[in-house]
Amino acid sequence: MCGIIGILSNKEVGNSLIDGLSRLEYRGYDSAGIATINQNTINRCRAAGKLQALKDLVEKNPLSGSVGIGHTRWATHGSPTKRNAHPHATDRVAVVHNGIIENYQILKEALISQEVAFQSETDTEVVVHLIEQELQLGKSIEIAVVESIAKLEGAFALAIIFKDNPDILIGTRRGSPLVLGIKEDELFLGSDAWSLAPWTQKICYLEEGDTVIMCRGSNFTYKIYDANNQLVNRDIKQLNLATGAASKGGYSHFMLKEIFEQPQTLSDTLLSLVDEHNKTIRNELPIDFTNKNLRIRLIACGSSYYACLMAKYWFEKTARILCEVDLASEFRYRDPVLNSDDTCLFVSQSGETTDTLAALNLAKNMGCLTVAIVNVPESSMARSAHQHILTMAGPEIGVASTKAFTSQLMVLNVLSLYAASARKIIDNHTIAEHITELLHIPNFISQVLQNISEFDQLGQRLSQARDALFIGRGTNYPVALEGALKLKEISYIHAEAYAAGELKHGPIALVDSATPLIAIAPNDSWFEKTASNIQEVATRGAPVFVLTDNQEFNVKSCEFRSIYLPKAGTVANCFIYTCAVQCIAYYTALHKGTDVDQPRNLAKSVTVE
Ligand code: F6R
Repeated sequence: MCGIIGILSNKEVGNSLIDGLSRLEYRGYDSAGIATINQNTINRCRAAGKLQALKDLVEKNPLSGSVGIGHTRWATHGSPTKRNAHPHATDRVAVVHNGIIENYQILKEALISQEVAFQSETDTEVVVHLIEQELQLGKSIEIAVVESIAKLEGAFALAIIFKDNPDILIGTRRGSPLVLGIKEDELFLGSDAWSLAPWTQKICYLEEGDTVIMCRGSNFTYKIYDANNQLVNRDIKQLNLATGAASKGGYSHFMLKEIFEQPQTLSDTLLSLVDEHNKTIRNELPIDFTNKNLRIRLIACGSSYYACLMAKYWFEKTARILCEVDLASEFRYRDPVLNSDDTCLFVSQSGETTDTLAALNLAKNMGCLTVAIVNVPESSMARSAHQHILTMAGPEIGVASTKAFTSQLMVLNVLSLYAASARKIIDNHTIAEHITELLHIPNFISQVLQNISEFDQLGQRLSQARDALFIGRGTNYPVALEGALKLKEISYIHAEAYAAGELKHGPIALVDSATPLIAIAPNDSWFEKTASNIQEVATRGAPVFVLTDNQEFNVKSCEFRSIYLPKAGTVANCFIYTCAVQCIAYYTALHKGTDVDQPRNLAKSVTVE
């Protein structure tokens, strides 16, 4: 989603703004722009499409100035054109925005009735005109900003520069993330700390409602006001983030690299939670599962939601705890029944997803213990939840989640084991056996990846399809859901996943010779039932592709192919078959020629509802 950079410096900032934006590209965007102040004018450069288009323009016409703002836009209000690209500006003020101004229509109508002319279709543009109006009334920059943002409803992070005062840069946030980066002779704003990392690792995470006024005088200073306009001190953190540009390391795409990193990331995540020698769980997990009335609520969006669906099987089977799973976007508006015995787990790769964050704050306000399972240590969720557990996937650049998803599964599985142990449902011997199975998973994933050419062939075949069906039972059902989502996201093939037992209740009507079926069918306790469902689909003329470890399995169909995967236990299968569906989606997209790492319309960090 939209990314923001702001720089107040003694040096030229034009190229640095673009450099900062390049570290926000992973978030997903469809246009970009920068603005600087020079010789009492606001200079802007904006371009639709990738950052390269903006770079090319700036190379031809460099933007001078030592204060500036930059933006990558993920279109919400108005198509991804140059006209709608940020920064938006009047003669005196320029603004970049991440989030949505929900009451923009009312504000816009009021401004239009006062003869204000709008240049774009965006919600953001109202912010510039509101500030401009306050400035025209002779108000100070600070008051003009504070009074303007008081009129806004919705979510925003804003960075603002002023023609008449090139020594000031203002940042403010409500709902959307914004960090302040501090150096002796430069100050920065960024949507995340990573975007600022090569410049400074002294970071202040602005809190909800904060406004930072950054000033250049004989030295660089800043003041932070909280949501009540009180001057506050915020902690400054010294981070230790990698600064090198993310590299594909010889792989053709980040996604493929990240798929191949899974043996390592799964091992790292597992070893952060268990002792591999004693085969015990490290007793540092932040949830007291001994409360007999405890209910677990798992809340997330997208793939992270599917990780939660998988975890429900584990918590209920292994730990016998009632566990409910919710989409964050539904949970937050449903007026859910919660009580103080509920432990709410919020699962998010980015830790910034707006709906999940809002659901977390709701549960916290209702007195529940909130635990965030996130991949970004300083993310909003990590900071907002009572406790957090890290997935150790490392930065994930491909928009479609792969290694972060499997690391989430790993954390959730160990948590279910820990819960079962705390409730004395399983003994130490069973825990040790379970951990042994988990320790084998990285090895199984490596085996899957050794035979990647099989997925290449299947991907080639699937790239010709317009629709596809995925089925699975038990824990293979969330794998099927994840497979269908991955395929949709990166190959744009319409794919649906069903619990295999549900096929007859409607979806079987979709079956025809042009709709391949991909069955997740390891030889487990659900296998016989799934095999019958596969047979029913084959009989109706669908091409059938089965992921299985059962070499005997065969069905008569117009087209049938099995991909054999390693034989493993039910828990390890969740990881093995997930890796397989990731590879299928990857190769299908590759053969279709779609943009694997930055698929159309998608964003890595979903910071609007
Ligand atoms: C799918 C994918 C998304 C995310 C979803 C939630 O490949 O990555 O569906 O899972 O947008 O994002 P996080 O996990 O950051 O909360």
